[in-house]
Amino acid sequence: MRVDLLIVHAAQVATPLAEGDGKSRLQVVSDGAVAMAGEKVVAVGSSAEVVSSVACHEGTKLIEARGKTVTPGLVDAHTHLVFAGNRVEEFEWRTQGKSYEQIAAAGGGIRASVRQLRRATKEELVEAALPRLDRFLANGVTTVEVKSGYGLSLMDEIKSLQVIAELADLHPVELVPTLLAAHEVPDEYQDRRNEYLDLIVEHIIPRVAEQRLAEFCDVFCERGVFTVAEARRVLLAGKAHGLKPKIHAEQLSRAGGAQLAAEVGATSADHLDYVDEGDIAALRDAGVVPVLLPGAVFFLGKSRYAPAREMLAAGLPVALSTDFNPGTCMSESLPLMMTLACTQMHMTPAEVLVATTLNAARAIDRASTLGQLRAGAQADCVIWDVPDYRCIPYHFGVELAQTVIKRGRVVYRRPSGTAIGATETDEEHA
Ligand code: NIG
Ligand code: FE
Repeated sequence: MRVDLLIVHAAQVATPLAEGDGKSRLQVVSDGAVAMAGEKVVAVGSSAEVVSSVACHEGTKLIEARGKTVTPGLVDAHTHLVFAGNRVEEFEWRTQGKSYEQIAAAGGGIRASVRQLRRATKEELVEAALPRLDRFLANGVTTVEVKSGYGLSLMDEIKSLQVIAELADLHPVELVPTLLAAHEVPDEYQDRRNEYLDLIVEHIIPRVAEQRLAEFCDVFCERGVFTVAEARRVLLAGKAHGLKPKIHAEQLSRAGGAQLAAEVGATSADHLDYVDEGDIAALRDAGVVPVLLPGAVFFLGKSRYAPAREMLAAGLPVALSTDFNPGTCMSESLPLMMTLACTQMHMTPAEVLVATTLNAARAIDRASTLGQLRAGAQADCVIWDVPDYRCIPYHFGVELAQTVIKRGRVVYRRPSGTAIGATETDEEHA
C-alpha cells in the first residue's frame, strides 16, 4: 500500500471508532502509527503493524512522534465566526452586574453585532475572520461549522455566507455554512416581527438555497427571541428548500426548542442547558445530536451547564463545540471547552475527545469522513505535544497542538516559543 505521509512511534494514537446506532468507543494504541495517501488515511495501528503493511516511496514524508499523542482533527460544530468589531463593552457591563438578556433587551447583544456587520465590507469581514481561523487551527481544529446571523437582511445574510465561501477557499480549515437569518429580529422590524419572518421564509431561504450558500438552517428559539411556532415555520421552510435543520434550544430558559428539534428531525440541537428528561428522550428517539456549549455558560458567568451525564446515560452521542462569537463565547479554543466539560459537566477525557471529533462530525452530517482515524477516512489529524490524550483537557489554557494535518497535508506547525535569552534581545543587538 503506497503511503505519502507516515506518522510513527506516537506515544498514543487515540481515536473514536463508530460502532453504529450513534455508538462509538475510543481506541488508544501505544507506540502508534497513522499512514496517509493523498487525502485519505490508509492504515492506523501499532507502529510495527503499520510499517510492515505499507510501501514508502522517495517522496514519503515521515514524522516521528515519540512522546506525542495523535488524534483526529477536532471538529467545531457550532460557531458564529463571521462578525465585525467586538462587544467588549458588553463584557465589561456584565462584570458590573448587567445580564446578557438585559443588554439584549436594551438593543445590544446580537443587534449590536448586526449594526457592525452591516457597515463592514466583504473584504473587511474576510480579513477579520482569517486570524480567527488561524487560532482554530493552532488549537487542533480542522473543520468548523459557521453560521450567518449578524446580517438579518437579504443582502447582509448573503454577504456573510459569501464571506464563508471565500474563507473556505483561502484557508485550510474546512468550513460548513449554516443560514441563521432567524438569530434575532433586526432593529427595523422590531414592531413588525411577522414581516421579518415572511422575509426569511419567502426571500432569504429560497435565495440562499438556490445559490447553494448554506447546508443547514438554524434558528434561535428562546424566550424574547423566536417562539417555537416561529422557529417551526423557519425550519420547515428551510427543509422544503433542502436546508437541514439545526436549532439553538433551551439556552437561557426551557422554551421548547428541543422537542421541536425532535419533531422536525433536526441534525442537531445546540446549547440545551435547560432540558428535562422528556426532552432528552425525545432527542434520542429522533436521532438528534446534542451539541453542548459550556464556553457560553462560563463566559456569561452562569452556572447551569447542560446535563451531559444524563444525555450520555440515555445513549445520546454528545458533541461539544465552542459557540465562538463576540457576545457569549469569545474563544476559538475547543480544548478549553473540553476542560470545562470535564470539570463542570463531569464528562471524562475519553468522552470529551469523542465529543469534539466523531460526535461533532455527526452534528454536521460528516461522520462518514471526519472525526475518526481509520482506513478510508479523510486524513485530518493532530499531533499533540502531550504523552497521553487525557492531557489535552488536563493541561488547559495553552496551545498543545504541535502539528496539524488537513487532507493529508501539514498545514500548521507550532512555533517553538522558547524565550529569547537575555544576551539575544533586540535591544542588545541594536
Ligand atoms: O449561541 N444564542 C444565540 N446565539 C449566540 C449568541 C450570539 C451573540 O450574542 O452574538 C449563542 O450564544
Ligand atoms: Fe450559537
